[in-house]
Amino acid sequence: MNNWKFCLKNVLTEIRGIKVKENSMCGIFGCILKTGTAAPIIHQALKRLEYRGYDSVGEATIHEGKLFIKKDSGKIDEVHKLHNLDDMPGSIGIGHTRWATHGAPLKENAHPHVDCGGQIAIVHNGVIENFSQIKLELENKGHTFQSKTDTEVIAHLIEEAFKKNSSLRLADAVLEAVKRLEGSYAIAVISTNEPDKIVCARNESPLILGLAEEGLYCASDIPAILPITRRIINVDDGELVILTAEEFEIRKIADLSIVTREIKIIDWTPEMAVKQGYPHFMLKEIREQAACLRNTLRLQEHYLDLMSTFLDRSKEVFLVACGTSYHACLAASYMFSKLAYLATYPVIASEFVEQHGKSVNIDSTVLAVSQSGETADTIAAVNAARLRAATILGLTNVIGSTLTRISRVYICQQSGPEIGVAATKTFTSQLSVLAQLALRLAKKRGKISQDEMDYIEAKLKKIPEVVDLVINTQEEKVRLLARKYRDAKLFFFLGRGISTATAYEGRLKLMEIAYVPALAFPAGESKHGPISLIEKGVPAIFICPKDDTRKAILGNIMEMKARGATIITLVEEGDNEIKSFADDYIELPKGIPDVLSPIPYVIPLQLFAYYMAVEKGYDPDKPRNLAKSVTVQ
Ligand code: F6R
Repeated sequence: MNNWKFCLKNVLTEIRGIKVKENSMCGIFGCILKTGTAAPIIHQALKRLEYRGYDSVGEATIHEGKLFIKKDSGKIDEVHKLHNLDDMPGSIGIGHTRWATHGAPLKENAHPHVDCGGQIAIVHNGVIENFSQIKLELENKGHTFQSKTDTEVIAHLIEEAFKKNSSLRLADAVLEAVKRLEGSYAIAVISTNEPDKIVCARNESPLILGLAEEGLYCASDIPAILPITRRIINVDDGELVILTAEEFEIRKIADLSIVTREIKIIDWTPEMAVKQGYPHFMLKEIREQAACLRNTLRLQEHYLDLMSTFLDRSKEVFLVACGTSYHACLAASYMFSKLAYLATYPVIASEFVEQHGKSVNIDSTVLAVSQSGETADTIAAVNAARLRAATILGLTNVIGSTLTRISRVYICQQSGPEIGVAATKTFTSQLSVLAQLALRLAKKRGKISQDEMDYIEAKLKKIPEVVDLVINTQEEKVRLLARKYRDAKLFFFLGRGISTATAYEGRLKLMEIAYVPALAFPAGESKHGPISLIEKGVPAIFICPKDDTRKAILGNIMEMKARGATIITLVEEGDNEIKSFADDYIELPKGIPDVLSPIPYVIPLQLFAYYMAVEKGYDPDKPRNLAKSVTVQ
């Protein structure tokens, strides 16, 4: 292990258009130069990574055996204005731009984080699941922590490895540390004891190396490196890397075997690089949903516990949100009812004051769901409920947002910045968090059997794979469907039970980015009015998972078909009966519990809206008249 040898025996190959599958959340960068100053290069690279996160920023460099650190909360330009991020000595350094998941966006939580001795600095992208346990253990050994982040434990674990064996090399100590970690990470570490090296490691979070004449680099993503060099190396899960200014070495963490890897030449434009080779952010964000869902499975247990305790104690629970987040609330009301036997009331935020403003009281709980945490209608509803002493719980993607400040307890959906205006990964991540909350509450209330709970939990763990499978097997079919139905003037989206929420969300996506009028409602409502709109050839999309609603929805399909509608179904594999009545169908994998079905079933609808917009020549990332965060009422 002490015998690290450096090698650069890689074959040069030309690769066009590689795609990196992962979710955006924090950006890391490292730079080690033969001569010159690293800080301005790190600063510029972080600017190019800002789309991955932008609530805090920091850099660390080493010069003449001393560690220099500048960091603060705020956007990079704001922090640079205050601290001059370029003015740091040394030809080696690391940097980080943050999207908070553990700990609020405060200066002390900004990366880099250091050990007790202030000799080791680390930047990290990912979520360490077992950090509380490690932190406690290290605190008992005398380590003191400056931040509330999961990352800081890594710096102290490395320090602890050195304490046990002072003759260790930095790479050995990092190796010992990462072996303790559960969760996802891409890290870059520097130490004053070995000021000529950066050590990196990766598990589930992206990491690449950049190779140039002037030095070597590591980064979360291609845009950071692109203007410096087009020669990159991908680092894979379970690998550890040592960089000097001239050479690099990749080893497998498991057995320390040396890895040789081809150099890739990237021919992307900077714009393509930010979208990781995808033509639009929306498609990139649809495709990164599996990774986002994996992140949601790493929530901090005690927040789920605390929230479920509040829900359990309440006399009435309102689920309050707008748009897509409201659809997640609607689906959640079925989850809470089916799993925890708790009645909850999904309310569109702009209606909350009129509908419940007078009755909401100290025994009420409002669970507000907002990706941005800033939506004016949602915040207004929450403020009205607060004035009447209701308990406020929040689910958001942005720690530090208004919603997190006014919630008694909040939880982060952990899906990283969403740039496309249409919410996609937001919806599925919210659903996963809400399902976990419903399960936690079910446990507390003892309403479903342990076997059923274990079954659903196991299925939830598999949901990321299911989502990837749906994308990989159905995307092309959906694209062709969009071509076929490009000129349809009206669509129906119909579901029953929890699939009603899926139907509403499918309709919203199609309307907002492809500008096609569409109706959505629980399929049972057809005969109470809307079916009169059906005439020959009107496409009706039915969401038909094989749950308790299947028989009834089959009846609704027949009603529509008899009146000339063109039937498109989202159907479970092997459900030949439903398929036999459909003009077109998209198949989804078997065995998805009804409470989780909106997660995979919404994917073809997101793709359908996306390809409809593309077919019609619209930019799906920038729908007319809409803004990502609606901060006016
Ligand atoms: C639709 C969409 C909007 C938002 C809504 C709420 O694709 O993005 O409907 O869901 O404006 O936004 P948040 O969740 O930020 O409160």
